[in-house]
Amino acid sequence: MSGHGPAQPMTARRSGPLRGRAEIPGDKSISHRSLILGAMAVGETRISGLLEGQDVIDTATAMRAFGAEVIQHGPGDWSVHGVGVGGFAEPSEVIDCGNSGTGVRLVMGAMATSPITATFTGDASLRKRPMGRVTDPLGLFGTRAYGRKGGRLPMTIVGAADPVPVRYTVPMPSAQVKSAVLLAGLNAPGETVVIEREATRDHSERMLRGFGAELTVEAGPEGQVITLTGQPELRPQTVAVPRDPSSAAFPVCAALIVEGSEILVPGVSRNPTRDGLYVTLLEMGADIAFENEREEGGEPVADLRVRASALKGVEVPPERAPSMIDEYPILSVVAAFAEGATVMRGVKELRVKESDRIDAMARGLEACGVRIDEEEDMLTVHGMERVPGGATCATHLDHRIAMSFLVLGMAADIPVSVDDGSPIATSFPAFRNLMVGLGADLS
Ligand code: S3P
Repeated sequence: MSGHGPAQPMTARRSGPLRGRAEIPGDKSISHRSLILGAMAVGETRISGLLEGQDVIDTATAMRAFGAEVIQHGPGDWSVHGVGVGGFAEPSEVIDCGNSGTGVRLVMGAMATSPITATFTGDASLRKRPMGRVTDPLGLFGTRAYGRKGGRLPMTIVGAADPVPVRYTVPMPSAQVKSAVLLAGLNAPGETVVIEREATRDHSERMLRGFGAELTVEAGPEGQVITLTGQPELRPQTVAVPRDPSSAAFPVCAALIVEGSEILVPGVSRNPTRDGLYVTLLEMGADIAFENEREEGGEPVADLRVRASALKGVEVPPERAPSMIDEYPILSVVAAFAEGATVMRGVKELRVKESDRIDAMARGLEACGVRIDEEEDMLTVHGMERVPGGATCATHLDHRIAMSFLVLGMAADIPVSVDDGSPIATSFPAFRNLMVGLGADLS
């Protein structure tokens, strides 16, 4: 879905206490992977709780183009009839991954070791993002990639007809790169080894094992060593997608900064590779209780009871970045309401997300009267007792930037607008209704 419809400006006003239950949709990372692994298994995978955001819908469409049968039976209830590892057909049309870096990079990996050619594109945001980080390691399998300057989409991938297994150390903390290499390794003979210096989200590893692949993870001197045995027959699964902690972050953070709030957010994943924001919020003094801890869909989950809190600024250690990489925009909003400075270092990966998130947050916060310091790899937000607000912030086709500034507007003195709230539909289509249901003034 690379076409982008008309911009939808949205405005958030200072809101009364937020109250009630926030039912968060399915995890985006796990939703993409369920469709892709379902397409690479032999037989029917059933998925419940699939996130029906545009990013995931675009991955479903891509899997159909490669020959899998993907059917929606009801809300969140999907099936994928897979074609098996190495069974992808050559798509007859361009694969349009819309706004989704995860979608395009994982699908490129999944098709890279089949003797087929596919051309990928995306929206204006995705066409600016670097694909070389994925096509470089895919080249080691024998895959060829022809894209625009700087490794940008549109890009044609010629799959390796005789792939060789690969040993690759991922140069930046990136679950997408790790996952693309592992998915490519599925159709290569022998063992594909991926080494991560810093651990990133481990959904691919958990799910590959769940679908029957042989995969081990060991600590080595250079970091975590992930070894996958190629050419397994993946077995179809029943996948219950847990709720997305990155989406839960928005109502959770809103409840922390809107006076008098108390909300319950049931069934949020507490996977340690996704948990960094929650660890940081507790350090800031957030009143969050983790109730009813249990396992759902293979992930540790808990019900979060969140109450408005007096927060203090903290230094977020750089090694925590991979476990909260998508949560820095909303953390920087919370930080504006905390006492003292919040220092976020080691965050340069934010510059190559759906937008340059350091720049987008810095400019919007300044426009709302918040003092910040910005470096290539660092953002510091100086908290204040009352945040003025009163600006229209640019979202640059980035869902998390849009939601972050709308949350800011719920607690600022003067309403805050975003120039375009439409990208929210990529990851959290129910955001507006959910927040209004809790008592937010959002129009
Ligand atoms: C994701 C990995 C992260 C994250 C993205 C989802 C995934 O990207 O930002 O939203 O599902 O693997 P990087 O791999 O670029 O860090």
